[in-house]
Amino acid sequence: MRKIIHRVTTEIKEIILDNDIKTLILTDPDNWPLPPFSAGSHIDVYLPSGKIRQYSLCGDPDISNEYIISVKGEKEGRGGSQEVHELRKGDILPVSLPRNNFPLMPAQNYLFIAGGIGVTPFLSMIPVLERSNSQWELHICASNKNNIPCSRLLKSYMEDERVHWHFSEEGNRISIPQVINEVSLGQQLYCCGPEKMLMEFENLNSEISERVHIEHFGFNKPIDDPAYEIYLKRSDKTILVPRGETMLNALWNADIEVPASCEGGVCLECKTRYLEGVPAHRDLTMKIADRDNYLTPCVSGCSSSRLVLDI
Ligand code: FES
Repeated sequence: MRKIIHRVTTEIKEIILDNDIKTLILTDPDNWPLPPFSAGSHIDVYLPSGKIRQYSLCGDPDISNEYIISVKGEKEGRGGSQEVHELRKGDILPVSLPRNNFPLMPAQNYLFIAGGIGVTPFLSMIPVLERSNSQWELHICASNKNNIPCSRLLKSYMEDERVHWHFSEEGNRISIPQVINEVSLGQQLYCCGPEKMLMEFENLNSEISERVHIEHFGFNKPIDDPAYEIYLKRSDKTILVPRGETMLNALWNADIEVPASCEGGVCLECKTRYLEGVPAHRDLTMKIADRDNYLTPCVSGCSSSRLVLDI
Protein backbone atom coordinates (compact mmCIF):
# COMPACT_ATOMS: atom_id res chain seq x y z
CA MET A 1 0.00 0.00 0.00
CA ARG A 2 1.54 3.28 -1.05
CA LYS A 3 1.78 5.93 1.63
CA ILE A 4 1.34 9.44 0.21
CA ILE A 5 2.97 11.97 2.49
CA HIS A 6 1.71 15.29 1.21
CA ARG A 7 0.41 16.79 -2.00
CA VAL A 8 0.32 20.21 -3.56
CA THR A 9 -2.11 20.50 -6.44
CA THR A 10 -0.63 22.17 -9.50
CA GLU A 11 -1.79 22.75 -13.05
CA ILE A 12 0.46 22.60 -16.09
CA LYS A 13 0.39 26.19 -17.30
CA GLU A 14 2.92 25.87 -20.07
CA ILE A 15 5.09 23.23 -21.74
CA ILE A 16 8.34 24.04 -23.52
CA LEU A 17 9.86 21.37 -25.76
CA ASP A 18 13.61 21.56 -26.10
CA ASN A 19 15.13 18.61 -28.04
CA ASP A 20 14.25 15.55 -25.93
CA ILE A 21 13.63 17.64 -22.80
CA LYS A 22 10.21 18.87 -21.76
CA THR A 23 10.01 21.80 -19.38
CA LEU A 24 6.76 22.10 -17.43
CA ILE A 25 5.69 25.35 -15.78
CA LEU A 26 3.38 24.44 -12.90
CA THR A 27 1.10 26.89 -11.09
CA ASP A 28 -1.67 26.69 -8.51
CA PRO A 29 -4.96 26.10 -10.40
CA ASP A 30 -6.38 29.29 -8.78
CA ASN A 31 -3.13 31.22 -9.09
CA TRP A 32 -2.33 31.23 -5.37
CA PRO A 33 1.36 31.29 -4.44
CA LEU A 34 2.90 27.82 -4.16
CA PRO A 35 4.80 26.64 -1.05
CA PRO A 36 8.23 28.28 -1.06
CA PHE A 37 11.43 26.44 -1.98
CA SER A 38 15.13 27.07 -1.64
CA ALA A 39 17.77 26.78 -4.35
CA GLY A 40 18.65 23.13 -5.08
CA SER A 41 15.24 21.76 -4.00
CA HIS A 42 13.27 19.05 -5.77
CA ILE A 43 9.66 17.91 -5.75
CA ASP A 44 8.07 14.49 -6.05
CA VAL A 45 5.69 14.39 -9.00
CA TYR A 46 2.68 12.05 -8.66
CA LEU A 47 1.97 10.74 -12.16
CA PRO A 48 -1.45 9.53 -13.33
CA SER A 49 -0.25 5.88 -13.40
CA GLY A 50 0.68 6.08 -9.70
CA LYS A 51 4.42 6.38 -10.38
CA ILE A 52 6.26 8.96 -8.26
CA ARG A 53 9.29 10.68 -9.71
CA GLN A 54 11.61 13.36 -8.35
CA TYR A 55 12.66 16.38 -10.36
CA SER A 56 14.77 19.39 -9.42
CA LEU A 57 13.07 22.75 -9.38
CA CYS A 58 14.83 24.87 -11.96
CA GLY A 59 13.09 28.20 -11.56
CA ASP A 60 14.05 31.21 -9.45
CA PRO A 61 13.06 30.53 -5.79
CA ASP A 62 11.97 34.18 -5.51
CA ILE A 63 9.15 33.56 -8.02
CA SER A 64 6.52 32.20 -5.66
CA ASN A 65 3.70 31.35 -8.06
CA GLU A 66 5.36 28.70 -10.21
CA TYR A 67 7.44 25.55 -10.11
CA ILE A 68 9.52 24.73 -13.18
CA ILE A 69 10.76 21.19 -13.87
CA SER A 70 12.65 19.91 -16.90
CA VAL A 71 12.42 16.23 -17.75
CA LYS A 72 14.44 14.31 -20.31
CA GLY A 73 12.53 11.52 -22.07
CA GLU A 74 14.36 8.27 -21.23
CA LYS A 75 13.28 5.53 -23.63
CA GLU A 76 15.25 2.93 -21.65
CA GLY A 77 13.96 4.09 -18.26
CA ARG A 78 11.16 2.89 -16.01
CA GLY A 79 8.47 4.85 -17.83
CA GLY A 80 8.19 7.90 -15.55
CA SER A 81 9.85 10.38 -17.89
CA GLN A 82 7.87 9.05 -20.87
CA GLU A 83 4.68 9.60 -18.88
CA VAL A 84 5.71 13.17 -18.08
CA HIS A 85 6.23 13.72 -21.80
CA GLU A 86 2.64 12.63 -22.44
CA LEU A 87 1.20 15.26 -20.09
CA ARG A 88 -0.61 18.19 -21.67
CA LYS A 89 -1.08 21.87 -20.90
CA GLY A 90 -3.99 22.26 -18.44
CA ASP A 91 -3.48 18.81 -16.83
CA ILE A 92 -3.64 18.73 -13.04
CA LEU A 93 -0.44 17.39 -11.50
CA PRO A 94 -0.16 16.66 -7.76
CA VAL A 95 3.32 17.19 -6.35
CA SER A 96 4.94 17.04 -2.92
CA LEU A 97 6.17 19.93 -0.85
CA PRO A 98 9.66 20.93 -2.03
CA ARG A 99 12.56 19.19 -0.25
CA ASN A 100 16.21 20.13 -0.40
CA ASN A 101 19.00 17.53 -0.25
CA PHE A 102 21.34 19.72 -2.30
CA PRO A 103 21.36 23.12 -0.58
CA LEU A 104 23.81 25.93 -1.21
CA MET A 105 26.31 25.89 1.64
CA PRO A 106 27.47 29.34 2.80
CA ALA A 107 30.44 30.45 0.65
CA GLN A 108 31.52 33.30 -1.57
CA ASN A 109 32.45 31.11 -4.47
CA TYR A 110 30.76 28.12 -6.14
CA LEU A 111 31.79 25.70 -8.89
CA PHE A 112 28.99 23.78 -10.59
CA ILE A 113 29.51 20.74 -12.85
CA ALA A 114 26.47 19.64 -14.84
CA GLY A 115 26.24 16.51 -16.96
CA GLY A 116 23.35 16.96 -19.43
CA ILE A 117 19.99 17.37 -17.70
CA GLY A 118 21.97 17.57 -14.43
CA VAL A 119 22.06 21.32 -15.05
CA THR A 120 18.56 21.70 -13.56
CA PRO A 121 19.38 22.27 -9.86
CA PHE A 122 21.93 24.93 -10.82
CA LEU A 123 19.26 26.90 -12.66
CA SER A 124 17.60 27.60 -9.30
CA MET A 125 20.92 28.41 -7.60
CA ILE A 126 22.33 30.93 -10.06
CA PRO A 127 19.62 33.64 -9.61
CA VAL A 128 20.11 33.45 -5.83
CA LEU A 129 23.89 33.83 -6.18
CA GLU A 130 23.48 36.70 -8.62
CA ARG A 131 21.36 38.60 -6.07
CA SER A 132 23.92 38.04 -3.32
CA ASN A 133 26.86 38.97 -5.59
CA SER A 134 28.48 35.58 -4.97
CA GLN A 135 30.92 34.21 -7.49
CA TRP A 136 30.00 31.12 -9.48
CA GLU A 137 31.16 29.14 -12.49
CA LEU A 138 29.19 26.50 -14.35
CA HIS A 139 30.64 23.67 -16.46
CA ILE A 140 28.04 22.08 -18.76
CA CYS A 141 28.76 18.74 -20.44
CA ALA A 142 26.77 17.67 -23.49
CA SER A 143 27.39 15.59 -26.59
CA ASN A 144 27.34 18.54 -29.00
CA LYS A 145 26.13 22.12 -29.49
CA ASN A 146 22.75 20.95 -30.77
CA ASN A 147 22.17 18.95 -27.64
CA ILE A 148 22.49 21.63 -24.98
CA PRO A 149 20.17 20.69 -22.09
CA CYS A 150 17.46 23.24 -21.19
CA SER A 151 18.83 25.67 -23.77
CA ARG A 152 15.81 27.97 -23.44
CA LEU A 153 16.21 28.27 -19.69
CA LEU A 154 19.94 28.85 -20.20
CA LYS A 155 19.37 31.47 -22.89
CA SER A 156 20.57 34.44 -20.86
CA TYR A 157 23.80 32.61 -19.90
CA MET A 158 24.81 31.36 -23.38
CA GLU A 159 27.49 34.02 -23.82
CA ASP A 160 28.33 34.35 -20.12
CA GLU A 161 32.05 33.83 -19.56
CA ARG A 162 31.30 32.08 -16.27
CA VAL A 163 29.69 29.23 -18.24
CA HIS A 164 32.12 26.68 -19.72
CA TRP A 165 30.92 24.27 -22.39
CA HIS A 166 32.22 20.73 -22.87
CA PHE A 167 31.05 18.90 -26.00
CA SER A 168 32.28 15.30 -26.02
CA GLU A 169 31.71 14.82 -29.78
CA GLU A 170 33.94 17.82 -30.45
CA GLY A 171 36.83 16.41 -28.41
CA ASN A 172 36.22 18.83 -25.56
CA ARG A 173 35.23 16.35 -22.84
CA ILE A 174 35.56 17.67 -19.30
CA SER A 175 38.61 16.54 -17.35
CA ILE A 176 37.51 15.98 -13.75
CA PRO A 177 41.12 15.82 -12.41
CA GLN A 178 41.80 19.20 -14.05
CA VAL A 179 38.64 20.70 -12.58
CA ILE A 180 39.63 19.42 -9.14
CA ASN A 181 43.11 20.92 -9.49
CA GLU A 182 41.60 24.28 -10.24
CA VAL A 183 39.24 24.38 -7.24
CA SER A 184 40.14 27.44 -5.25
CA LEU A 185 40.39 27.72 -1.49
CA GLY A 186 36.94 27.94 0.09
CA GLN A 187 35.15 27.15 -3.16
CA GLN A 188 32.16 24.79 -2.82
CA LEU A 189 31.90 22.24 -5.64
CA TYR A 190 28.52 20.88 -6.75
CA CYS A 191 28.00 18.12 -9.29
CA CYS A 192 24.85 16.66 -10.84
CA GLY A 193 24.95 14.33 -13.81
CA PRO A 194 25.30 10.72 -14.87
CA GLU A 195 26.47 8.14 -12.33
CA LYS A 196 29.87 7.67 -13.98
CA MET A 197 30.65 11.33 -13.53
CA LEU A 198 29.40 11.39 -9.94
CA MET A 199 31.51 8.33 -9.08
CA GLU A 200 34.64 10.24 -10.04
CA PHE A 201 33.77 12.87 -7.46
CA GLU A 202 32.62 10.32 -4.87
CA ASN A 203 35.85 8.38 -5.12
CA LEU A 204 37.96 11.48 -4.67
CA ASN A 205 40.57 11.15 -2.06
CA SER A 206 41.43 14.78 -1.74
CA GLU A 207 41.33 17.55 0.81
CA ILE A 208 38.45 19.11 -1.12
CA SER A 209 36.18 16.07 -0.58
CA GLU A 210 34.30 17.78 2.24
CA ARG A 211 33.46 20.67 -0.08
CA VAL A 212 32.04 18.37 -2.77
CA HIS A 213 28.24 18.05 -3.00
CA ILE A 214 26.58 15.50 -5.27
CA GLU A 215 23.00 15.09 -6.48
CA HIS A 216 22.01 11.67 -7.84
CA PHE A 217 19.33 11.21 -10.49
CA GLY A 218 18.28 7.81 -9.16
CA PHE A 219 18.22 4.31 -10.56
CA ASN A 220 16.66 4.48 -13.98
CA LYS A 221 16.96 1.06 -15.55
CA PRO A 222 14.19 -1.48 -15.96
CA ILE A 223 14.40 -4.24 -13.36
CA ASP A 224 14.50 -7.69 -14.90
CA ASP A 225 15.33 -9.98 -11.99
CA PRO A 226 13.98 -13.56 -12.05
CA ALA A 227 11.09 -14.21 -9.66
CA TYR A 228 11.97 -14.70 -6.00
CA GLU A 229 10.23 -15.06 -2.67
CA ILE A 230 10.18 -12.73 0.31
CA TYR A 231 9.07 -13.84 3.75
CA LEU A 232 7.81 -11.12 6.11
CA LYS A 233 8.81 -12.44 9.50
CA ARG A 234 6.71 -10.22 11.75
CA SER A 235 3.60 -10.56 9.56
CA ASP A 236 4.25 -14.28 8.91
CA LYS A 237 3.50 -13.77 5.24
CA THR A 238 5.19 -15.03 2.06
CA ILE A 239 5.08 -12.90 -1.09
CA LEU A 240 6.28 -13.77 -4.57
CA VAL A 241 8.10 -10.98 -6.41
CA PRO A 242 7.39 -11.78 -10.08
CA ARG A 243 10.03 -11.38 -12.77
CA GLY A 244 10.45 -7.73 -13.77
CA GLU A 245 8.58 -6.43 -10.69
CA THR A 246 10.13 -4.32 -7.93
CA MET A 247 10.09 -5.69 -4.41
CA LEU A 248 8.32 -2.48 -3.37
CA ASN A 249 5.47 -3.02 -5.84
CA ALA A 250 5.12 -6.62 -4.76
CA LEU A 251 4.82 -5.44 -1.13
CA TRP A 252 2.27 -2.78 -2.07
CA ASN A 253 0.28 -5.28 -4.14
CA ALA A 254 0.09 -7.45 -1.04
CA ASP A 255 -1.29 -4.46 0.93
CA ILE A 256 1.88 -4.06 3.00
CA GLU A 257 2.43 -0.42 3.91
CA VAL A 258 5.94 0.67 3.02
CA PRO A 259 6.77 4.39 2.77
CA ALA A 260 8.51 5.43 -0.44
CA SER A 261 9.28 8.56 -2.33
CA CYS A 262 11.89 8.54 -5.09
CA GLU A 263 11.54 4.87 -6.09
CA GLY A 264 15.02 5.31 -7.46
CA GLY A 265 17.32 4.27 -4.61
CA VAL A 266 18.15 7.80 -3.53
CA CYS A 267 15.91 9.03 -0.71
CA LEU A 268 16.13 5.90 1.53
CA GLU A 269 12.52 6.43 2.58
CA CYS A 270 11.79 2.74 1.84
CA LYS A 271 14.87 1.45 3.72
CA THR A 272 13.87 -1.90 5.23
CA ARG A 273 15.68 -4.30 7.56
CA TYR A 274 16.34 -7.79 6.23
CA LEU A 275 17.19 -10.81 8.34
CA GLU A 276 18.19 -13.53 5.87
CA GLY A 277 19.13 -13.90 2.22
CA VAL A 278 21.41 -11.94 -0.11
CA PRO A 279 19.99 -8.71 -1.54
CA ALA A 280 21.23 -7.22 -4.83
CA HIS A 281 21.73 -3.66 -3.57
CA ARG A 282 21.12 -1.01 -6.21
CA ASP A 283 20.57 2.11 -4.14
CA LEU A 284 22.86 5.04 -4.70
CA THR A 285 23.10 6.51 -1.23
CA MET A 286 23.05 3.96 1.59
CA LYS A 287 26.16 3.66 3.76
CA ILE A 288 28.11 0.50 2.92
CA ALA A 289 27.92 -0.64 6.55
CA ASP A 290 24.11 -0.37 6.52
CA ARG A 291 23.87 -2.79 3.60
CA ASP A 292 24.60 -5.70 5.92
CA ASN A 293 21.20 -5.13 7.54
CA TYR A 294 19.08 -2.97 5.26
CA LEU A 295 17.91 -2.91 1.66
CA THR A 296 15.87 -0.53 -0.48
CA PRO A 297 12.92 -2.48 -1.92
CA CYS A 298 12.26 0.17 -4.59
CA VAL A 299 15.35 -0.81 -6.58
CA SER A 300 17.10 -3.70 -4.87
CA GLY A 301 16.67 -7.29 -5.97
CA CYS A 302 17.61 -10.67 -4.58
CA SER A 303 20.74 -12.69 -5.29
CA SER A 304 19.50 -15.71 -3.32
CA SER A 305 16.24 -17.61 -3.84
CA ARG A 306 14.58 -15.97 -0.83
CA LEU A 307 14.82 -12.94 1.41
CA VAL A 308 13.48 -12.59 4.93
CA LEU A 309 12.37 -9.06 5.82
CA ASP A 310 11.78 -7.65 9.28
CA ILE A 311 8.25 -6.51 8.51
S1 FES B 1 11.83 5.13 -2.27
FE1 FES B 1 13.63 6.33 -2.28
S2 FES B 1 15.19 4.87 -1.91
FE2 FES B 1 13.41 3.69 -2.10
